Amino acid sequence: DWTMGDYAVTAVNQIREKVGNGKVLLALSGGVDSSVCAALLAKAIGNQLTCIFVDHGCMRKNEGDEVQAAFSKWDINFVRVNAQERFLSRLAGVTEPEQKRKIIGEEFIRVFEDEAKKVGKVDFLAQGTIYPDVIESGVGDAAVIKSHHNVGGLPDFVDFKEIIEPLRLLFKDEVRKLGQELGLSETLVWRQPFPGPGLAIRVIGEITKEKLDVLRDADFIFRDELAKAGIAKDINQYFAVLTNMRSVGVMGDTRTYDYTLALRAVTTTDFMTADWARIPYDVLEAASVRIVNEVRHINRICYDITSKPPATIEWE
Ligand code: XMP
Repeated sequence: DWTMGDYAVTAVNQIREKVGNGKVLLALSGGVDSSVCAALLAKAIGNQLTCIFVDHGCMRKNEGDEVQAAFSKWDINFVRVNAQERFLSRLAGVTEPEQKRKIIGEEFIRVFEDEAKKVGKVDFLAQGTIYPDVIESGVGDAAVIKSHHNVGGLPDFVDFKEIIEPLRLLFKDEVRKLGQELGLSETLVWRQPFPGPGLAIRVIGEITKEKLDVLRDADFIFRDELAKAGIAKDINQYFAVLTNMRSVGVMGDTRTYDYTLALRAVTTTDFMTADWARIPYDVLEAASVRIVNEVRHINRICYDITSKPPATIEWE
């Protein structure tokens, strides 16, 4: 009987054989695929691996620290780059969604390049490519629609002799199983998809540090309420969006004029189409009450009831 444990053993042996005494570089995003890829390489080659984790300042609440905590206990070279300032200053005043993506993609490559130079000569560049990515980059409409999602592509400035993609034959659920097998935490293994540009495309309009902080707190409460209600695993993607609209409200005796927050939750199998999730009213109620009470500058909350198509999952 074939198990993920057997797979891990085989994959570890194959990596050792291929890499020898070589050095491997991996860009770690904290997503499921790159995290499992890092864990597998850590097990196979330990400190011959260097992971570069670029924190662009548009991560969710506590996310950067969680990723760092998960990987600093392994015997690998883990580099966290706190590049918030760099990204925020390049994003200042930018409102157009594709422009935001482009800036983040470019800046990401630059930051990665700066750090990769410090690592020096590497022999292999590792990527957490999984089987569906391999299929999607082939022919067909799916490839065209999704192509803009693969931020950056191959960093050709890093001098290496070969790419290694140890998850290339696995589907997502197998990747999660392998992650569990390798001892990664539930939080990392069950992480929902998160776009490369992060919260930058969930703050509508201009991005500021203050807006990002407001969104981080609100998004955290929404996710917390779904987890408490025990329905988080049934929903494929769920998050908050800080709209750029303000409206009038009343708090105690005081009139407020603050932001409207949108909550988004969808069920989907392939993220190409999606249905809005029928979250129970009492869960929406609990999230709404907590967010307006605990997060300053939000005085109104809407639930997004559009499916994809015609809407997309993200708002930008
Ligand atoms: P949409 O909004 O197009 O999203 O329905 C479909 C899926 O793709 C994710 N997404 C992105 N992922 N970079 C990424 O890495 C991006 O620029 C990007 N835009 C959307 C989205 O979160 C959803 O899972």
